[in-house]
Amino acid sequence: MKIVLRILKWTAIVLIVLFAGLAIAANMMYDRKYDAPYPDIKASSDSAIIAHGQHLVLSTAHCAECHFKPDDSTKVKNGEDFQLAGGGFPFLFPGGAFYSRNISSDKETGIGNLKDGEIARALRYGVKHDGTVLIPAMEYQNLSDEDLTAIISYLRTIPAVSHKVPDNDFNLFGKAILAFLIRPESPVKTPPAKMTPDTTAQYGEYLARFVSGCRSCHTERNPNTGAYIGEELAGGPFEQVKGDPPRMLYTANLTPDPTGVLHDWTFEKFRDRFHQGTSIPESVMPWFAFKKLNDTELMALWKYLHTIKPVHHDVGAYVQLIKK
Ligand code: HEC
Ligand code: HEC
Repeated sequence: MKIVLRILKWTAIVLIVLFAGLAIAANMMYDRKYDAPYPDIKASSDSAIIAHGQHLVLSTAHCAECHFKPDDSTKVKNGEDFQLAGGGFPFLFPGGAFYSRNISSDKETGIGNLKDGEIARALRYGVKHDGTVLIPAMEYQNLSDEDLTAIISYLRTIPAVSHKVPDNDFNLFGKAILAFLIRPESPVKTPPAKMTPDTTAQYGEYLARFVSGCRSCHTERNPNTGAYIGEELAGGPFEQVKGDPPRMLYTANLTPDPTGVLHDWTFEKFRDRFHQGTSIPESVMPWFAFKKLNDTELMALWKYLHTIKPVHHDVGAYVQLIKK
C-alpha cells in the first residue's frame, strides 16, 4: 500500500513539474520572433494596377471580410462601401481572441507606418511586422508577385481611418498553441511572378487554393490548429454558430461527385448563385465579396472544380444541431 502511495505521490510531482515547465515555456515562446525574407515588392501608383488591387481586396481575395470595422457590419451585409479599419469580428477560440488589424493608411492605428516589404512579408511568409507569427487565417502565401504588388498598391490608397483595434488576448492554452503548434506559413513553391486572369482550370486552381480561400473553408480542418484533416474541397463541419441551441455550420462538398452540391448545376446556375449573395444568414462565406467575382474568374473556378478528385461525402444541411 505504502509503495503505491509513494508512486502516486511521485507521479503527481512529476506531472506538476512537467506542467509548470510547459506553462513557463509557453509563456516564453508564444510571442517569439521568426526570420523571413522581405519580398522585393513595391507599391505602384499605376491606376490599372491599383484597380486590379481593389478588385482583389474587395472581391477575389476578400480581405474586407475580416478587416472591416465592427460598426460597419450592416454596410458589409448590404453591399455598401465601408472602411477597412479592422477589428470587425474577433476570432474567438478556446485559447483566446485574435483581432483583424486596421489596414487603412493611418500611421498610428493602421498600416501607414509599415513598409511595403513588411506587408508583403506578412502575406507571403506569415510573419508579422513585429516578427511574431500571423495566425493561419490569411492564406495568401502563394499570390503572384503581380497580385501582391496590386494589393499593396491599393492598400496605400485607402484613406487613413483612426481606429484602435484591441490587442490579441491569449490564455495559457492559447499561448501553448502559439508556442508549440503554430508556425509561419511559407509558399508551397516559389510564387509565380505573374498569373494572367483567364478562364482556364489552371487559373481557377490558383484562385481556389491561393487567392479566394475556397479550399481553406471547404476542406475540414482542426478547429484549434487549422491543420487540414479532411479530403480536399469535400466540405464538412466549419464552426459552431453563435446562439442557443448549439448548432454547427457546414461547408458544401465542391467536388464533382454525385454527393457534391455542383453535380446537377450548370455554369449559369453557378454564376447566378454567386450573384445572388448570402442565402443562409449563419453562413460565413464572404458572398458579399464574391458577388463581384467577374465571369472570367467564375468560369475558371467552375472548370477547376470539375477537374478535382470526386469525393463521396454527403454533408447534409449547412446548419445542423449539434448532437450531445
Ligand atoms: C479570415 C480573416 C482575414 C482575411 C480574409 C484577411 N485577414 Fe488580414 N488579418 C486577419 C487577422 C485575424 C489578423 C491579425 C492576426 C494576428 O494578429 O496574428 C490580420 C492581420 C493583417 C495584417 C497585419 C500584419 C502585421 O504585420 O501586423 C495585414 C497587413 C493584413 N492582415 C492584410 C490583409 C490583406 C491585404 C488581406 C487580403 C489579401 C487580408 N488581410 C485578409 C484576418 C484576415
Ligand atoms: C469563409 C469560408 C468560406 C469560403 C472562403 C468559401 N466558402 Fe463556399 N461556403 C461556405 C459555407 C459555410 C457554405 C454553406 C452555407 C452557404 O451556402 O452560404 C458554403 C457554400 C458554398 C456553395 C453552395 C451554395 C449553395 O447555395 O448550395 C458553393 C457553390 C460554394 N460555397 C463555393 C465556394 C467557392 C467556389 C469558393 C471560393 C471562390 C468558396 N465557396 C469560398 C464557406 C466558405
